Amino acid sequence: MNNIKEYIKTNKQRFIDELIELLKIPSVSADSAYSQDVVNTAEAVKISLEKAGCDLVEICETPGYPIVYAEKIIDKNLPTVLVYGHYDVQPADPIELWDSPPFEPIIKTTPIHPEGAIFARGACDDKGQMYMHVKAFEYMIQSNTLPCNVKFMIEGEEEVGSSSLSWFVKRNQEKLSNDVILISDTGMISNTQPSITTGLRGLSYVEVEVTGPNRDLHSGLYGGAVANPINILTKMIASLHDENNRITIPGFYDKVEELTTEERAEMAKAPFSLDQYKKALAIQDVYGEAGYVTNERNSIRPTLDVNGIWGGYTGAGAKTVIASKAFAKISMRLVPNQDWEEITELFQKHFESIAPKSVTVKVSPHHGGQGYVTPIDSIGYKAASMAYSDTFGVKPIPVRSGGSIPIVALFEEELKSKTILMGFGLDSDAIHSPNEHFGIFNYLKGIETIPLFYKYFTELSK
Ligand code: BES
Ligand code: MN
Ligand code: MN
Repeated sequence: MNNIKEYIKTNKQRFIDELIELLKIPSVSADSAYSQDVVNTAEAVKISLEKAGCDLVEICETPGYPIVYAEKIIDKNLPTVLVYGHYDVQPADPIELWDSPPFEPIIKTTPIHPEGAIFARGACDDKGQMYMHVKAFEYMIQSNTLPCNVKFMIEGEEEVGSSSLSWFVKRNQEKLSNDVILISDTGMISNTQPSITTGLRGLSYVEVEVTGPNRDLHSGLYGGAVANPINILTKMIASLHDENNRITIPGFYDKVEELTTEERAEMAKAPFSLDQYKKALAIQDVYGEAGYVTNERNSIRPTLDVNGIWGGYTGAGAKTVIASKAFAKISMRLVPNQDWEEITELFQKHFESIAPKSVTVKVSPHHGGQGYVTPIDSIGYKAASMAYSDTFGVKPIPVRSGGSIPIVALFEEELKSKTILMGFGLDSDAIHSPNEHFGIFNYLKGIETIPLFYKYFTELSK
């Protein structure tokens, strides 16, 4: 049982079946209707870590959902890898756009996944990627090849801002001490060109409320004479970008790091087809900040996007009404050096300042987090690079991602260690969207690659 490829071949069906069982539990952290399912998922993760061979496995209670902590300490003088993942998932809606029910996983082939992919909410983000670590660990225990100490910390609130995890990390520095943090919750370029994520964007998420008259009004009797909060809100939102698609909030770009020409040239080397990109999204053209290409716009540049907007009458037929209130949810993706709390304040100040006297506005910050960049000359990066090179036969490319895992910056602050983002998902896996899936190839490749990271990291640490 010493060969990982053999082990995967023998246990492939069981690995898939176990993941499918986990995916059946609807652990939607954003919706309290699923709270019991979220808690049950923590229990299922705990049992899987016990079975895989951890010495200590605990459910750690927090002010919110529990954190599953587990460890296998083989020798205090050896390095320790802390694996982080999340067992919560995004809401499945709009449910009618799924081709199969989100919590009844099925395997189907796609042009990108000829070997099949598991379709279910959380398949890639992050249950599938998190479970690769459990199975890779199981292999190292079974084959007696675990080269160092391991700690697992799997949380249930990543999709809603990880507030209980920051609470937990701040109180458990000693318990969580480690030499490197390993996370599979990102993607890679393609199944033939692996990449390692070296940057994540920060996030500031706010909700705005615009109030006009004290009640909904007849749009004929009052229309034209009273501010319509929906008209005003959309106008205010439109003014947040200028004609070059730059964000107009004063001070917003002050701390944005400009990459050098060399760094941008290096980035441009990553394989990318604009035609395929447009085709995959069924769009005629891309859109964004002047002076930057698509792969820069979605990684090294900050953004401001409305995520949802509502107000007034949206039912069947027509109702002639001027609503009293209008609302929007707005996210700003930030780049390293931009401080999310400062940006939230700048937004709030600016948004209040552009409101006409005829309405009042309320800005409520939701959550946020700092961006992250990790160097590529660390032992951790090298170990990951060597691991991917072995299993893919191709050297991975460092890539900055547009997504956010806000807790990563906090890990560095509190635990003083670097994070290595070994993702195995693809952009086309539709995370957060209907029909999310995770390739069987990717799942098994992850299980194959992770033990090599442990091996190389331990060797390079000597
Ligand atoms: N796993 C994603 C983040 C991600 C995906 C990063 C792909 C890079 C590549 C994570 O679960 C996520 O969705 N994060 C949220 C932020 C959170 C505060 C809700 C995000 O990026 O929207
Ligand atoms: Mn995730
Ligand atoms: Mn997510």
